[in-house]
Amino acid sequence: MDMRVGVIGTGLIAELAHLPGYQAAGAQIVAVADVVEERAQRVAKKFGIPETFKDYQDLLKLPEIEAVSVCVPNFLHHSIVLDALKAGKHVLVEKPMAINLSQAQEMEEAAKKAGRLLMVGFNSRFRSDVQKLRKVVEAGQLGDIYFAKTGYMRRRGYPSGWFTVKREAGGGPVVDIAIHAIDFTRYLVGSPKPVSVVASVAQKFGACPVEGDVWQSSDVREGLRDGKEFDVEDFASAWIRFDNGLVMTVETAWTANIPRDRVYSDLLGTLSGAGIDSYHSVHKKGSGHGAIDEAVEIYGETSGMVSDTLLPFRANDSHAAEIRHFLAVIQGKEEPIMSAHDGVIMQGLLDAIYQSAEKRREIVL
Ligand SMILES: NC(=O)c1ccc[n+]([C@@H]2O[C@H](COP(=O)([O-])OP(=O)(O)OC[C@H]3O[C@@H](n4cnc5c(N)ncnc54)[C@H](O)[C@@H]3O)[C@@H](O)[C@H]2O)c1
Repeated sequence: MDMRVGVIGTGLIAELAHLPGYQAAGAQIVAVADVVEERAQRVAKKFGIPETFKDYQDLLKLPEIEAVSVCVPNFLHHSIVLDALKAGKHVLVEKPMAINLSQAQEMEEAAKKAGRLLMVGFNSRFRSDVQKLRKVVEAGQLGDIYFAKTGYMRRRGYPSGWFTVKREAGGGPVVDIAIHAIDFTRYLVGSPKPVSVVASVAQKFGACPVEGDVWQSSDVREGLRDGKEFDVEDFASAWIRFDNGLVMTVETAWTANIPRDRVYSDLLGTLSGAGIDSYHSVHKKGSGHGAIDEAVEIYGETSGMVSDTLLPFRANDSHAAEIRHFLAVIQGKEEPIMSAHDGVIMQGLLDAIYQSAEKRREIVL
């Protein structure tokens, strides 16, 4: 796609997802910015990007850049997104949208005022299994969906550095990984509005040895930070009621004594149930989290007998699909499958999860 873009923050997600995603979509990456200049320069060299900046404001000054990705620690999303919108850029901001609801609301308002697209990095919506199941739900095949059970659980896998510091991340696995499970499950069932939440959070392990350390933040990986600070939860569970009567339960952990990492969503409908579960395929292949490549399962009835239907699918690169969609929406070639308001709704839910845990009671949204 013939568009010129910039990327702010050249850490893990920029290098693994955004930069290759833009290149795969045929966009021209004009510049990248990172406070760690050498990192920006290394990444720029790898992807053949002409300009690098230490100060993202200099990148925003380039008039030829139409859109930017914001791939920095969570507490910086709000200010950088506001600046990018003010500079007239369309923005894809990584999840979570912000670190509290009022920031997210301000960002949504700013995008409206600027007349620019603001999308949040809910890439799980673009997974091929999620897209398949969404079509089944849209066709009414599950009937009335009254219950959803979702989770994003890791056996050992906390991301160190800013991710484990409340003031920088906003929270632990709730804002880091459960956010994906909640968002794609809410999307699957037609994006109802949450109305109340009961939740509990706990820190049971904190910083503990992790095999392979795949989730380290860039600063810890490169020895610029020790990664010892840890003041967020490492486990949470929540019970969410939606305006259409649906109830969703959620569980999440960075560290848990379970057989394997698992990302799943079970939907119970009056005509059929359905399930997406990374566990079986991860187990089969022995590969990392989310390597899902088998079948969406539908549990229903045929001729008065219970029956299972398997919808096979090929796992895709959901980040690349998300970025291609972001550019297509800007160009008016596709209708958006999410809005900044979905980010705001999620932020309200995340805030309510922590409030409920702290106050030990139901929070009405
Ligand atoms: N969608 C997903 O699956 C997914 C996966 C991982 C991370 N993320 C999100 O992406 C964001 C970044 O995470 P990461 O894993 O890449 O972290 P990271 O620590 O590897 O990278 C963050 C980068 O931002 C840079 N940075 C910090 N302040 C900056 C500033 N003022 N201007 C420019 N650059 C600045 C840092 O130097 C670093 O290079 C977070 O919001 C995270 O939640 C999303």
